[in-house]
Amino acid sequence: MLRPMTMPLTLITGASRGLGRAVAEQALAQGHQVIGLSRRPPADLSSPRFLHWAVELADARAAAAQLAAWLAEQGPRPWSSATLINNAGVVSRPAPLADSDADDLANAIRVGLEAPLLLSAAFLHATRGWPLPRKLLLVSSGLGRRPMAGSVSYCAAKAGLDHLARALALEEAARPDGARVVSLAPGVIDTDMQQQLRGADPQAFPERTRFAELHAGGQLDSPAAAAAKLMRYLERADFGGNPVADVRDA
Ligand SMILES: NC(=O)c1ccc[n+]([C@@H]2O[C@H](COP(=O)([O-])OP(=O)(O)OC[C@H]3O[C@@H](n4cnc5c(N)ncnc54)[C@H](OP(=O)(O)O)[C@@H]3O)[C@@H](O)[C@H]2O)c1
Repeated sequence: MLRPMTMPLTLITGASRGLGRAVAEQALAQGHQVIGLSRRPPADLSSPRFLHWAVELADARAAAAQLAAWLAEQGPRPWSSATLINNAGVVSRPAPLADSDADDLANAIRVGLEAPLLLSAAFLHATRGWPLPRKLLLVSSGLGRRPMAGSVSYCAAKAGLDHLARALALEEAARPDGARVVSLAPGVIDTDMQQQLRGADPQAFPERTRFAELHAGGQLDSPAAAAAKLMRYLERADFGGNPVADVRDA
């Protein structure tokens, strides 16, 4: 009897632009079923294997419930692997913490840390026991490991993702069918986020000069180049061997 065709399933947050959009495009080109989660859909990206879910990740409980229900309905049969990439992240307006807006700070932590926590829990619960490789990638940053003044909420969210990965990797390693977990710094990428950093008020954000110099010196990866590195990292045989990693060390 012929086995039905299966394909890799990739779920990715922040798929509308920047790194997330480029990863979604490359995963589609590699034959994956892709589910993109963001407030807006990616412009000019359509495929019978692409679904966009319009979600607000500043309150991720609804998105996590949608994810759990969809995975339960689909079951493991259509897939050869299942991967969740928590990519969406935001920087609050670069400024000292004491001069920052409370809503802006809360948004950075909710989108950057709370949403990955809730979506990861929903993904792992819904796919537990599935007889296929399961991977969880958290898109971190060098700034989760190196502190930077003027970006306290972002640094805290990324350091939180790294330690989330360390603790979660222990839980999953203790299970016979555990998922593999990595919090990965993706390098410096020419996206809206970088524009926001180099366009910041230099009085409130002295590090602005460094970001302007990186851009002027042509040191930013294009979203496509960064996405290709991330996709290669996901395919590594030792993915998950180190729960906190940097694509530049690969
Ligand atoms: N760019 C860099 O140099 C760099 C360096 C290190 C790490 N990173 C990390 O890489 C990841 C991608 O960064 P990027 O530069 O591609 O960012 P970006 O261009 O600013 O894109 C951010 C993505 O997150 C989504 N998003 C933001 N707020 C959201 C919300 N409330 N609800 C739902 N989705 C939301 C956006 O979609 P909508 O606006 O449509 O909702 C968008 O798709 C982030 O985790 C970032 O921290 C980036």
